[in-house]
Amino acid sequence: MTDVQRVTLVTGGASGIGLATVRRLVADGGKVVLADYNADTGAVAAEPFGDGVRFVRADVAQEADVEAAVAVAVEEFGRLDCVVNNAGVGGAFGRITDIDVDEWDYTFAVLVRGVFLGTKHGARAMRSSGRGGSIVNIGSVAGSSAGAGPQAYSAAKAAVINFGRVAAAELGPDRIRVNTVSPGLIVTPLVGAGEATAAAVMAQAQPWPDLGRPEDVAEVIAFLASDAARFVTGEEVTVDGGLTAAGPRMHAAYGGDPGRRGLSGVNRGTTGEPPTVRRGPE
Ligand SMILES: NC(=O)c1ccc[n+]([C@@H]2O[C@H](COP(=O)([O-])OP(=O)(O)OC[C@H]3O[C@@H](n4cnc5c(N)ncnc54)[C@H](O)[C@@H]3O)[C@@H](O)[C@H]2O)c1
Repeated sequence: MTDVQRVTLVTGGASGIGLATVRRLVADGGKVVLADYNADTGAVAAEPFGDGVRFVRADVAQEADVEAAVAVAVEEFGRLDCVVNNAGVGGAFGRITDIDVDEWDYTFAVLVRGVFLGTKHGARAMRSSGRGGSIVNIGSVAGSSAGAGPQAYSAAKAAVINFGRVAAAELGPDRIRVNTVSPGLIVTPLVGAGEATAAAVMAQAQPWPDLGRPEDVAEVIAFLASDAARFVTGEEVTVDGGLTAAGPRMHAAYGGDPGRRGLSGVNRGTTGEPPTVRRGPE
C-alpha cells in the first residue's frame, strides 16, 4: 500500500476501465468518488465497496455536475488527491460528409470538455489544499493516427493527449501532475463486439498475444495517480500490447520479415556489392 486513504474522483467509473480503476484504488486503501452518467450501473458498481466509494450521478459535459462531484470528494472524504478523467463514448460515426454537427459536438463535449472540466475543478481543489495532486486523462491510440476509431473520436482523443501536456506545464508549479494513459484494444462494453471479434482484431494487429483487459490499464492509472510517479508529468503512456509500436507493417506487404523465414544477413543496397544471406542459426 503506497498511499493510504488517498481520495480519487473517477469519471465513467461504472464500467470497463473506470470500474477496474475504482477496484484497484480501493484495493490500495484509497477512497473513491465514482461519477457516471448512468445512474443504474453507477449505483450497482459502487454498492459492493460500502463507505469507501461514493456514487455521484454526473454528466462530465456539464460543468455544474463536475464541480459537484469534486465537492463530494472534499466534503465527504476531506480531500482530493487525484482525478481520473475516464468517461467516454464512441461518439459520432459515418463518413465525414454525413456526420451530423450535433453528434460531432456531443463527442467533443464528452471526451474533451469533460476532461477540461475534470481538470479545471480538480486542479482548483488540489491547489487550494496546498498538497497538489495527480490528474490522469484517458486518451487512446486513436488519438495518434487514423485507423483506430471514428473521426470525431480520434480528433477528440488527440485533443486530450495535447491538453495533458499543456495542463502539465501550467499546473506543475502547483505540484499538480497531469498525464495521459492511451489504451489500445481493451475488452470492455464500449468496444461492444465481444471477445471473439476482439481476438480476431488482435491477431491481425497486436504483437502481444493476450487480449487487453481493463485491469491492465488500471494498473498504469494507479501508478500515475500515486506518489511513486511524483516526477512524471506531461507524459503519455500507451497501454496497447505493442499495437502502435508494430507500425505500418509494410514489411509484411513486401513478402514478410526474412527473419521469420529463418534468414539473416545484410542488404548492401545499390552499392554494387552483393547481399549476404544466411539460413538458420550459425
Ligand atoms: N475499451 C477500449 O478499447 C478503449 C481504448 C482506448 C480508449 N478507451 C477510453 O477509455 C475510457 C473508458 O472506456 P471503456 O472502454 O471502459 O468504456 P465503458 O463503456 O465500459 O465505460 C465508459 C463509462 O463512461 C460513462 N459515460 C459516458 N458518457 C458519460 C458522461 N457524459 N458523463 C459521465 N459518464 C459518462 C458510461 O456510462 C460508462 O460507465 C474512455 O475514455 C474510452 O474512450 C477505451
